[in-house]
Amino acid sequence: MRKVTLLLVIAIGFGLLSGGPRPAIAAGGAEYEHQEWTFNGIFGRFDRAALRRGHQVYREVCSACHGLKRIAYRNLMDIGFSEEEAKEIAAEATVTDGPNDEGEMFDRSGKLSDRFVSPFPNDQAARYSNNGALPPDLSLIVKARKGGADYLYSLMTGYADEAPEGMEMMDGMSYNRAFPGHQIAMPQPLYEDLIEYEDGTPASVEQQAKDVTTFLAWAAEPELEARKSLGLKVLLFMILLTAMLYAVKRRVWSKLH
Ligand code: HEC
Repeated sequence: MRKVTLLLVIAIGFGLLSGGPRPAIAAGGAEYEHQEWTFNGIFGRFDRAALRRGHQVYREVCSACHGLKRIAYRNLMDIGFSEEEAKEIAAEATVTDGPNDEGEMFDRSGKLSDRFVSPFPNDQAARYSNNGALPPDLSLIVKARKGGADYLYSLMTGYADEAPEGMEMMDGMSYNRAFPGHQIAMPQPLYEDLIEYEDGTPASVEQQAKDVTTFLAWAAEPELEARKSLGLKVLLFMILLTAMLYAVKRRVWSKLH
């Protein structure tokens, strides 16, 4: 019994340690800092107000260059938008549909079941408009980059007007301390008061960065909250089951002594 308890304690200890906060990480000369996110940890949930503001940042700023093709307009209802609001947002998009009875493709306004419409019809058009660089689809970007949300936040806040002395910048590139190599083809997207938040929150660069990162973290893992609450239920069930089995064991063995 003692051995089992010891093993259990070690296992739980490892579990807790691996979920704990990590120090600032540096990858490929890029720097990003650890931030507090409401969606980290075993009780993690997305901050609904931040998700709404983050959607506004994506829509008014990032969507000019980046798609979000894995998310459908109806998914906005999962994060607190009403059906009317989601319909309105969808209707603003122009979707190419078809072919119709005459074999022609046609344009119509978006519906709830449509995915977010990308700003460019293909990668070539996207590169052509961005100096040869491809703005990646942002649906999975938080999962696809080392550092995840911390990296994205640092990328958004990591621009500087001038590169440090001794660094040669290529034409059309911006200095960013979080981007590996520090030269990025994306011009600084966020500025103080660039947008006016619907809920009146002051729009500092940090605030916009935090909100859009929260929104994109949700886009990359919309099932996060369900996953975490299921995990908690399973843990609770295991604890109860262990207690019950222990009680049964004691009962059975008490008769055999
Ligand atoms: C004017 C167009 C434009 C806008 C607006 C823009 N981006 Fe970009 N973005 C780019 C381009 C071009 C790249 C590719 C950069 C490169 O590879 O050097 C890029 C790359 C990125 C990357 C990938 C970086 C990496 O590690 O590879 C992320 C993340 C990103 N953008 C997020 C955003 C977010 C969030 C917003 C809105 C706040 C935004 N972008 C607005 C053009 C844009």
